[in-house]
Amino acid sequence: MAFEVPPPLSTRRIFVTGSTGLVGAHLLSNLLQQPVQVRALKRKSSNLEILRKVLGYSHSDPEAAFRRIEWCEGDLLSPEFMREALRGMDQAYHCAAMVSFDPRNRQQLFSVNVHGTATIVDEALKSGMDKFCFVSSSAALGKPTGVKEAYIDELTPWENTDDLSDYALSKYLAEQEVWRGIRDGLNAVVVNPPIVIGPGDWSRSSSKLFEASWNGFRFYPPGINAFVDVRDVVKASIQLMNSPIHSERFIVAAENLSYQQLFNLIADHLDKPRPRWRVSRRMGEIAWRLEWLASRLAGSEPKITRATVTSAQKKYFFSNKKIKRELGYVFIPIEQAVQETCHRFLEEQRL
Ligand SMILES: NC(=O)c1ccc[n+]([C@@H]2O[C@H](COP(=O)([O-])OP(=O)(O)OC[C@H]3O[C@@H](n4cnc5c(N)ncnc54)[C@H](OP(=O)(O)O)[C@@H]3O)[C@@H](O)[C@H]2O)c1
Repeated sequence: MAFEVPPPLSTRRIFVTGSTGLVGAHLLSNLLQQPVQVRALKRKSSNLEILRKVLGYSHSDPEAAFRRIEWCEGDLLSPEFMREALRGMDQAYHCAAMVSFDPRNRQQLFSVNVHGTATIVDEALKSGMDKFCFVSSSAALGKPTGVKEAYIDELTPWENTDDLSDYALSKYLAEQEVWRGIRDGLNAVVVNPPIVIGPGDWSRSSSKLFEASWNGFRFYPPGINAFVDVRDVVKASIQLMNSPIHSERFIVAAENLSYQQLFNLIADHLDKPRPRWRVSRRMGEIAWRLEWLASRLAGSEPKITRATVTSAQKKYFFSNKKIKRELGYVFIPIEQAVQETCHRFLEEQRL
């Protein structure tokens, strides 16, 4: 493994996984505004352009910020590699995960999300680092079964149900690896964001919502979910890491909105027609089957699946009381998050 030597400027040494994705890129950008030393994991196939773009949002000299990153290239699943990668680090943020609802990715999903997390937790414990942050998900929180509507907080008990997505189960099991690490002495915090709003790779993760609206997606599911600006996920995680708080999970959610409200906001700020058709349960059932067939024929990833259709029918209200109480945290309103993300999207369409 080859490390590029960064300029010696820091007091604290921080390791980040997933820095080429939406959350990790914004996290790295925020960390690089502080006088810390950052080491980041990437894969041979990783595209660094999204990170460069995100650095451009808040750094006057994005290339200088980029050059401060010490890259290590390798496999999250390799204990030997992760041991070297974490050597000398004071803190680590584990944001890397596979975000996929394609049933064909099941094995890889569990491998990356669960075994990858187990590996970094084991090596973080051995390294003796000060603190570890796991970016989990609202998908890893308990959802009561047999109800269409539920109020969820950090203590809602987990239930295994048939309609769980593999992604949700993988994030729940990954979080269990972090709790195991905590029991073994890891000083860690867990954040559980719901759907993250922010500019990144428009063809990936939750940023896809903007591209879908731009391309004229006219349907909305009847459910309710929580949403959060990516800058809040990052800021809240950093504040938790810099606090004495440990061995706790926090829902990092700004607001609960119906999908219709969210999709309308996106459409309005992109100056596109609002979605018109509500997806009934029956329509959803037909749609995911047709999409499954189309994706098989095209060899592509299905845009909707049985699990996403089922979950988007549910009305989930997430509580952000804990983080507000513990940190006095104030969230960016979702309308502002959507407006600013749409502004970036439109700017990039014009390039
Ligand atoms: N976006 C959301 O709405 C949302 C909501 C709740 C929780 N989360 C959680 O937030 C975290 C970040 O999500 P995101 O939206 O930023 O996802 P993303 O944009 O898809 O980025 C995923 C990141 O994980 C890395 N990764 C994937 N497989 C890997 C592997 N095998 N080894 C090493 N790195 C790997 C990717 O690297 P490459 O660039 O090399 O592929 C990328 O940097 C995840 O843990 C996700 O579960 C996201």
